Amino acid sequence: MIRRLDHVAIAVPDLQRAIARFAEDLGLSLAGTEDVPTEKTSTAFLPIEGTRIELVHPMGGEGPIAKYLEKRGGGLHHLCFETDDIEADVAKLKAKGWEFLSPAPKPGAHGTRVIFAHPRSCEGVLVELAEHPKAHA
Ligand code: CO
Repeated sequence: MIRRLDHVAIAVPDLQRAIARFAEDLGLSLAGTEDVPTEKTSTAFLPIEGTRIELVHPMGGEGPIAKYLEKRGGGLHHLCFETDDIEADVAKLKAKGWEFLSPAPKPGAHGTRVIFAHPRSCEGVLVELAEHPKAHA
């Protein structure tokens, strides 16, 4: 089941400048940065009231974000919804005709498992589903 808006991702050509924009100008706090080799991205997370802004930048100058920046020069990239059962939600959405960009969920930042749906499945918006690791007592 979809639980909440996990993050809003923005593709940025200059990660440090973008961090300054959101941290210094808008006053959000930087929770951390993380490279996600499976997606060829460097990311920065800035939490705000129940969700986060995720800045995404190409890792080593290549990958899907590099292509996006070439074409569009940065901007709103995707919305990510947290799910408590990614397989169940993918199956439910596939039954409704949604198309996904990979056959199965892949490792994302912070130990999550993530999958992206094609923008044509959701009104032109790239949608990510993320399942967080289960908390252990
Ligand atoms: Co994301």
